[in-house]
Amino acid sequence: MTSTTLKSEEIIRATSQVIPGGVNSPVRAQIPFIVESGCGETIVDVDGKTYLDFCCSWGALIHGHAHPQVVKAVQKRVAMGSSFGITTAVEAELAHQIVEHVPSVKKVRFVSSGTEATMSAVRLARGFTKRDLLIKFAGHYHGHADSFLVQAGSGVTNLSSSAGVPDDFVKHTLCLPFNDFEAIERAFKEHGPRIAAVIVEPIAANMGLVFPKDGFLELLREKTRLSGALLIFDEVITGFRVALGGAQELYGIEPDLSCFGKIVGGGFPAAAFGGRSDIMDYLAPSGPVYQAGTLSGNPVAMEAGLQTLKLCAQPGFYQNLEKTTSLLTDPIRTAIEGKEMCLHQAGSLFTLFFGKKVVENADDVKGCDFEAFTRYLDALLERGIYVSPSQFEVNFVSSAHTARSMALASQAVGEFFR
Ligand SMILES: Cc1ncc(COP(=O)(O)O)c(C=O)c1O
Repeated sequence: MTSTTLKSEEIIRATSQVIPGGVNSPVRAQIPFIVESGCGETIVDVDGKTYLDFCCSWGALIHGHAHPQVVKAVQKRVAMGSSFGITTAVEAELAHQIVEHVPSVKKVRFVSSGTEATMSAVRLARGFTKRDLLIKFAGHYHGHADSFLVQAGSGVTNLSSSAGVPDDFVKHTLCLPFNDFEAIERAFKEHGPRIAAVIVEPIAANMGLVFPKDGFLELLREKTRLSGALLIFDEVITGFRVALGGAQELYGIEPDLSCFGKIVGGGFPAAAFGGRSDIMDYLAPSGPVYQAGTLSGNPVAMEAGLQTLKLCAQPGFYQNLEKTTSLLTDPIRTAIEGKEMCLHQAGSLFTLFFGKKVVENADDVKGCDFEAFTRYLDALLERGIYVSPSQFEVNFVSSAHTARSMALASQAVGEFFR
């Protein structure tokens, strides 16, 4: 991206002096402006330029920025005291909502980030099965805990691993190609009794949006069940996004453990992991697997999550969201007909892949036309449209997006293709 503006440039320079790379999370370095505020479907940068937001805090804001119901409840909650390190009733309220909406989840524990959720779920799986080996998939991102930084997606896509992760850790993670049935058969044949868990994004959303092939998730379910390993669905992006019950509802598969983040905290730092009661009861203090957090279940974040899920549970919510999204994705599909491109969509999530007609795994995504993607990104940014700034990320539509803004975005994309 090139179009930086004056005040943003100044702040980016000042920030870089005191924060490594000028950002507190690496992918943000690709965004050339400093944001000041957000309202509904738009954000405003420090130079006063307004953008239509198709990233929505990387998916956390399914109702857009500063939704009045969330803001009102959060303000009330902050005034009651922001943190106690003692259980508050709102934790149980949000936990009940999750258990109600996601049938595979009988008990849930709250943490403060998606990374904590996945890291804790894997520790729990290892403690429960008394095995060490973890299977993950290339291009899938599960946060930045040591076990996951092996051919991961999102901001680590171009690194095979991260410096600072001991080989001794990495050797307990087996990374396989997504959608490769034979690789799964082989892995279970060779390592079956050593496999503690398979962790998977049921719809991959950190290498763009990539769907599981028919039968792939079913195979993971069958193999894990037969070998005594656990199946962990990382629904940090898909949870409460593609359906109220997440991707597991769409595919009709019950994992043993699930991880949630982003939407579950309604734009505040909260995440969760949950699943079968017998497994969850392995957590301290009832069980031997240690897991804790000073700000876990923070009442302000719980309140934001609770209001957010209540809004999601309104009749027709997901159908309407998909309809709105299609106001943009349908014209794009028409515009790219006959081109070496494809568009993947799951409800309000979508990715436009440049340079490929078929995308099924991380290697396919790595073969995309990144120069074309960057031109598209810059062209949209100039027209006041902020889409997720990497071919490896997905775009998010919120319930705050209007038909008018979708038409504006569609026009901007149309102009780019012309
Ligand atoms: C699927 C998935 N899992 C885990 C994480 C990590 O979440 P967090 O950034 O909150 O630590 C992410 C973050 O984008 C994610 O997309």
